[in-house]
Amino acid sequence: MAKDAKQRLIDGLNKDLQGEFQAIIMYRLYASIVQGPYRQELRTFFANEIPEELLHAQVLADKIAALGGIPAATPATSSGARKPKQRGSTGWQPIWTRSSRMNRSTGTSSARCSHAGHRPGSGG
Ligand SMILES: [Fe+2]
Repeated sequence: MAKDAKQRLIDGLNKDLQGEFQAIIMYRLYASIVQGPYRQELRTFFANEIPEELLHAQVLADKIAALGGIPAATPATSSGARKPKQRGSTGWQPIWTRSSRMNRSTGTSSARCSHAGHRPGSGG
């Protein structure tokens, strides 16, 4: 692989790694600050996503190191960490409102992971 292409790959993987770190922080934060009638279910839901994101971070860090790069040690930045929202039929809403689409029997939600293209519980 050409040196430039390899460095671009490492840079891209590091950007993804920072997104995984951001997701871990945001899930932890959401689990702690969520409020409302589904608080307990959402708290568990968010906390249960963290191990999957840690695994994503591990895979990316190992690939970066195998390519000769240095894995990033900082998360991507986000301005929305204190306002978790989900998209509903009437637009974006705080995730802890009564109209939340939490499925109480399965513990699943239509909430989206904070980093690109990932949906909690989808393995992505
Ligand atoms: Fe992820």
